[in-house]
Amino acid sequence: MVADMDGGKRKRSICSRQEPLAALKILKDGNNKRDEIPDRVTLKKEIGLLSACTIIIGNIIGSGIFISPKGVLEHSGSVGLALIVWILGGCIAALGSLCYAELGVTIPKSGGDYSYVTEIFGGLVGFLLLWSAVLIMYPTTLAVIALTFSNYVLQPVFPDCVPPYMATRLLSTVCLLFLTWVNCSSVRLATRIQDVFTVGKLAALGLIIVVGLVQICKGNYEGLTPQVAFEFSTTPSVGQIALAFLQASFAFSGWNFLNYVTEEVVEPRRNLPRAIYISIPLVTFVYTLTNIAYFSAMSPEELLSSNAVAVTFGEKLLGMFSVIMPISVALSTFGGINDWLCLNPQGCKGHLPSLLAMIHFKNCTPIPALLCCCTATIVILCIGETHNLINYVSFINYLSYGVTIAGLLYYRWKKPKLYRPIKVNLLVPITYLMFWALLLGFSLYSEPVVCGVGLVIMLTGVPVYFLGVHWKAKPKCIYDFIESATYVAQRLCFVVFPQFDPIEISPIEEWPDKSSDTLSRKS
Ligand code: TRP
Repeated sequence: MVADMDGGKRKRSICSRQEPLAALKILKDGNNKRDEIPDRVTLKKEIGLLSACTIIIGNIIGSGIFISPKGVLEHSGSVGLALIVWILGGCIAALGSLCYAELGVTIPKSGGDYSYVTEIFGGLVGFLLLWSAVLIMYPTTLAVIALTFSNYVLQPVFPDCVPPYMATRLLSTVCLLFLTWVNCSSVRLATRIQDVFTVGKLAALGLIIVVGLVQICKGNYEGLTPQVAFEFSTTPSVGQIALAFLQASFAFSGWNFLNYVTEEVVEPRRNLPRAIYISIPLVTFVYTLTNIAYFSAMSPEELLSSNAVAVTFGEKLLGMFSVIMPISVALSTFGGINDWLCLNPQGCKGHLPSLLAMIHFKNCTPIPALLCCCTATIVILCIGETHNLINYVSFINYLSYGVTIAGLLYYRWKKPKLYRPIKVNLLVPITYLMFWALLLGFSLYSEPVVCGVGLVIMLTGVPVYFLGVHWKAKPKCIYDFIESATYVAQRLCFVVFPQFDPIEISPIEEWPDKSSDTLSRKS
């Protein structure tokens, strides 16, 4: 599930909701086409270098660059240090992704971190990764993106102050409910939204960078000269710098997406490292330029008092065109929410309730998973505040990246003779892990509650694993209860297990009527 969650965006992933759709289509078009169905369905290698780069870049760049600059500056205390944090954040992401490239080609399983950790450390650690992804990473990231959306929409409505708490929560909830409904009702409409809204984020970033560069060429860069840039409002402690990194790392998260589709990459041995060498420096460059543009246009105080940096930037520099900024960021984040809702929970390999993997019998949309995710996001949205939510999700994210990379070292020791098509220098994982330990230690020390809550929620997965997954000989009444509850939910949502073999699928029209038996109880 981690796999699909982190990046199984519908358009890109082979393991997408379109699969059952395609299967149904074959059936509708006529059963006489059975001869055309291959014996074995295998993944087609079709991701070349360019697609690999666009996948990484498209997955990393999202709402973060429009919301985290404030947090990075707040914790680092000066413009200069904030820029260093952004650049170093990119370098750390690059080290991490090189390690992931080695894992990706050494353990050639789709499923990313979850598969590697399960293979290396066993089921419990893999389950904890999955558990924290479902309970923390997925809904919290969605909540942050939804809050960024509402802050950007509402900022022009409340030009002189920060938009009220209730207004942002309400708008975020409405937007989430709307997109959940879209995703529940139509795969095609949701995919359209994905295409259109990607343009929004590129337009906004491009505009900010160009206008910022023009500003600098005009000589407006006093704030960026070393004397001014390193003037600290408060001297930051190591703990504060760690939090600045957590804020920046939210914007960089998503670099591991290519690992969910390594099997589809053409010549992965050559193309994986190349894609990393191209895309991550490019994203770091874009992020750094965007920050430079922000700093060339506004003072640190102005940036810190704005909840929607790009809007303030637009108001200062774009005059009557300033409305472009909230519109394009709102579009981009709206698309972002949609992207996250599109992620598909069908790869959970029996570790999550089977209901979450089921899809609507006609629309092929994973209604139970969507409803759970929407509810969890609304709860998180209402109790959290953007800045804390970013620290919370980034902490858990870093934790799982680090565990996976520690797995790389352990695997080298456990299976030294295994053929590794890509073998990174040992200094790469070691540097990453040293930085990782410092970062996690200090951020836990400076934000014990926010980071601690994440850790506790992650650890609640331990009893759940032993009771739910490990304990196979449960009393029959428990199995009966789970089965009846699943069955009731299936009837309420009209969902069935996706069936990938078209020959097994009954004609669509017959499904609901024969439901007592066909509403699959295959679990
Ligand atoms: N980097 C993305 C953004 O800036 C957010 C993101 C993508 C993310 N993948 C993630 C955040 C995984 C946490 C975990 O919007």
